[in-house]
Amino acid sequence: MTNTEPKARILVLDDEERIRKILGLQLEREGYEVKLLEKGEEAIAELGNGQKYDLLISDIRMPGVTGMDVLDFAVEHIPLMPVVMLTGVVDIETAVKVMRSGAFDYLVKPVTRKELIPAVDKALAYGRLMSYNRRLELENRAYQEELEEQVQLRTHELSEALAKLRVVHIDTVRILSGSIEEKDPYIRGHSNRCRIMAHHLAEALGYSARQLDMFDFGSLLHDIGKIAIDSRILNKPAPLNPDEMKLVQTHPLVGERIVSKVSYFSEIVPMIRWHHERWDGTGYPDGLKKTEIPLSARILSIVDAFDAMTSDRAYRLALSTERALGIIRDESGLQFDPEIVEAFIREKTFELVLDSK
Ligand SMILES: [Fe+2]
Repeated sequence: MTNTEPKARILVLDDEERIRKILGLQLEREGYEVKLLEKGEEAIAELGNGQKYDLLISDIRMPGVTGMDVLDFAVEHIPLMPVVMLTGVVDIETAVKVMRSGAFDYLVKPVTRKELIPAVDKALAYGRLMSYNRRLELENRAYQEELEEQVQLRTHELSEALAKLRVVHIDTVRILSGSIEEKDPYIRGHSNRCRIMAHHLAEALGYSARQLDMFDFGSLLHDIGKIAIDSRILNKPAPLNPDEMKLVQTHPLVGERIVSKVSYFSEIVPMIRWHHERWDGTGYPDGLKKTEIPLSARILSIVDAFDAMTSDRAYRLALSTERALGIIRDESGLQFDPEIVEAFIREKTFELVLDSK
């Protein structure tokens, strides 16, 4: 033991005074700090009091509280403190019993100095190792906890940042779709109202949150192809002639061309290309029929038509909600998918935008 190390503290418990004294002398001579106790009760009180010892050396057989009782107490309450038991006879059964009960070692009385000191050194080294391992374990646990906290914090920050980014993203797309609507004042707010209704209807039909995002983007951008059409045609205060009609009908394909350049929007391409298809197959641009038309486009088609009918146009005034709903019902199975017409009316999707015009 070097001078810089604190003295190891050893508790010696034996009911025979002679043995206590010999053990105490021998251990003090080695530089250990020793406390001698006579009774098991005293030892339990001393250890239970929070007194710190690096080693307990205890006799087994004692009147009252025995060495085995003290060993059990120490193992349960001070598991890092090694215990060396003293036994009066060489008795394999007792040796097995004390080792099984958690003693680090045992010595047979009379204990010689030659046996005592190496056994004590070994037990103390073991105790130090146990403490070191325990400290490592605690440090490791604290580190793990800190790490988990950090991960949680970062995850939270990241999800907040993502939520903000999502808002910015959708706002950017709204600005873009709004700028198309500037070309045609009669459709101002149309894309956003389509977004609100398509989102609601798609949610009612069981689409996931991620897919609902796509409905938002698809609805906002469904008429983006109109950017390529002369605003004099879009704003013409009279029915269009066949050539003008043909031109207007190119907007789903132009929209598809614009949007398909952005890989993030690949999922909304069907909404853009096919939102003017009809359930009976007489729509454009491809004349798709019934379920050939992607469901997302069938949903958009109804909310798009409803909003168009209930908005003023250059060539006519807005229809009432009741009239527009009547037309939607009449067109069930002709222009529109009957199941979606049913959901649109059942879910009262149209009510969401009644105040926003
Ligand atoms: Fe359109």
